[in-house]
Amino acid sequence: MGQDKFKRYTITAALPYANGPKHIGHLAGAYIPADLYVRYLRLKKRDVVFVCGSDEHGTAIANQAMKEQTTPRAIIDKYHELNKHSFEKLGISFDIYHRTSEPIHHETAQDFFRNLNEKGIFKVETSEQYYDEEAKQFLADRYIIGTCPSCGNDGAYGDQCEKCGTSLSPEELINPKSTLTGNKPVRKETKHWYLPLDKYEGWLKEWILEGHKHDWRTNVYGQCKSWIDGGLHPRAVTRDLDWGIKVPAEGADGKVLYVWFDAPIGYISATRQWALDHNKDWELYWKDKETKLVHFIGKDNIVFHCIVFPVMLHTQGEFILPENVPANEFMNLEGDKMSTSRGWSIEMHEYLEDFPHKIDELRYYLTAIAPETSDSEFTWKDYQARVNNELVAILGNFVNRVMILMHKYFDGIVAGSGKIDLSDKAINEAIGNCYDEVEQAFESYKFRQAQTAAMEIARLGNRYLTEHEPWKAYKENPEAAREVLHNCLHIIAHAATCLQAFLPNTAEKIFAMLNLKNNLSFDDEIVFEGGHQLNTAALLFEKIEDEVIERQIQKLIAKKASLEQVKEEASAVAPAKENISFEQFSGLDIRTGTILEAEKVAKTKKLLKLKIDTGIDVRTVVSGIAEFYEAEKIIGQQVSILVNLEPREIKGILSQGMILMAENSSGKLSFVAPTESDINNGSVIR
Ligand code: MF3
Ligand code: ZN
Repeated sequence: MGQDKFKRYTITAALPYANGPKHIGHLAGAYIPADLYVRYLRLKKRDVVFVCGSDEHGTAIANQAMKEQTTPRAIIDKYHELNKHSFEKLGISFDIYHRTSEPIHHETAQDFFRNLNEKGIFKVETSEQYYDEEAKQFLADRYIIGTCPSCGNDGAYGDQCEKCGTSLSPEELINPKSTLTGNKPVRKETKHWYLPLDKYEGWLKEWILEGHKHDWRTNVYGQCKSWIDGGLHPRAVTRDLDWGIKVPAEGADGKVLYVWFDAPIGYISATRQWALDHNKDWELYWKDKETKLVHFIGKDNIVFHCIVFPVMLHTQGEFILPENVPANEFMNLEGDKMSTSRGWSIEMHEYLEDFPHKIDELRYYLTAIAPETSDSEFTWKDYQARVNNELVAILGNFVNRVMILMHKYFDGIVAGSGKIDLSDKAINEAIGNCYDEVEQAFESYKFRQAQTAAMEIARLGNRYLTEHEPWKAYKENPEAAREVLHNCLHIIAHAATCLQAFLPNTAEKIFAMLNLKNNLSFDDEIVFEGGHQLNTAALLFEKIEDEVIERQIQKLIAKKASLEQVKEEASAVAPAKENISFEQFSGLDIRTGTILEAEKVAKTKKLLKLKIDTGIDVRTVVSGIAEFYEAEKIIGQQVSILVNLEPREIKGILSQGMILMAENSSGKLSFVAPTESDINNGSVIR
């Protein structure tokens, strides 16, 4: 196969923004397929480096810092750790999980920029851009929202509409608004550095449209083609922001690199750091023609990895280009789009909290429904069915039956002398075919198919065992039973070898039970010698009960509902009124008082008649709080009272003043009172 053309492999998985936890859709989109491919390469004994890390710049980070009322630094530290830890637990076997906030990255990105700048690649231009006068800030990317011109979503960002995936510029937004203040932006002049993508249209046509028509996925190729055919435009690679990597050029004070300029260079800096740590030469992994570079991403990142970053690498001149960019489509969840902000998601750490010992189950299911050619759908019921009907009933059951019988009949010892081979020709051949299919599927990035082909070995083992019934044969012909079980041991070892990329924890358990070395590569021979002692059988998978699934579905629904409530409350806050002068404010005479008496006003639902000690006098006030407070229970309650409000008659009672109440978005009222006990009646509130 063509793979041997390459001496080494540089495999990248999209650097997730460290602005929040990542969900299982991200996992299925980029990280699991990348991990499968890398584990496969390692099993083939190829030289490979697998890099990833946190994307820590850009307005996505700064926005989150605002939301959590903290600094960008605190945000990236928190979420870098969380995501790194989750990936580790899920068995994503990065060689390094780096950070774009590291000095080595800043240096690498700045060198890259300087290099292109010196070559005269960039166009420098001054133009008018949106500016928030109150925040004194240009509004790039996610600092600006508005209505998406293609789908009408009114929460589209200045760089992208997350609803329809269209990539945007702030100018395209309808009714743009600053996310910093909510203000309508004005236009202001500013200078920026542009990567002139238009100049490389011809080169891109040749490289992608002609060069990769047959080996790139149709969805990836199609997106590139429509971009290129639609005409490319220069793209700004600098921004007027504080948070980011300083632009190393004259006249660039207060400017940072655009996050999509620095982030993919993060793959290079991660490789540099890994090389330093392991005494390797990073340049071989990025500049040698015999290195195969592959980017694993979700479909929303296609244009950056197939067009922008390659143009950067190409214009730099020394770097290799990606051989393939196997982008996945999206994975939906229980009938709706997965989204952390809408609460409709299963975050990696949430799954890990609930199922710390079901890692391989998740890897298996996400691979089985990987959105390789079109969007797919995660449902808890389907997850349960796949685990119970495939992992438990086929793989687990087969391994368990063989181990139990070997221990019961033969004390777990492989009898005979010398090598004990797999004696069934048909099985041997069938397994050989599975290996071929697994390899061929891996080489063409078809991980669903690779997993199915690997599982086929367990399926045929299960059938073989059921057909040969060693438990019946044992009574008349123990030697025949022994041979069948020995063959089964081989089948198990092959299944574990082929499945270990998908189910690393399970494979490890199986190799331990078989007393074979872990991590058997595809080319290692599986050897059982006479006298080989098996270890005790351990359970591989547990059946998942209906209650467990039901609880997860309820949890999901509850999470979304509680988030919606929070949002509703936040958005229901009334906008600020117009400014008033200090004199106008000082006209209000507000005092603390105490309720002495309270009674319901006859024939009304809402009104209480209160007698208040205001410190100045004792007076009557009619107040619309009866729905929230029972008369008897508020005697002695301290309140704030506006004492110089003109008296008026309500239901025949003269009301002299007004009690101040806080009203929330659902109309609930609550007293506003001093929190200390030594504020006596008549104290001035101002
Ligand atoms: N942070 C981006 C996202 O989450 C992906 C960056 S990939 C890289 O969509 F190439 F820029 F690193
Ligand atoms: Zn849209």
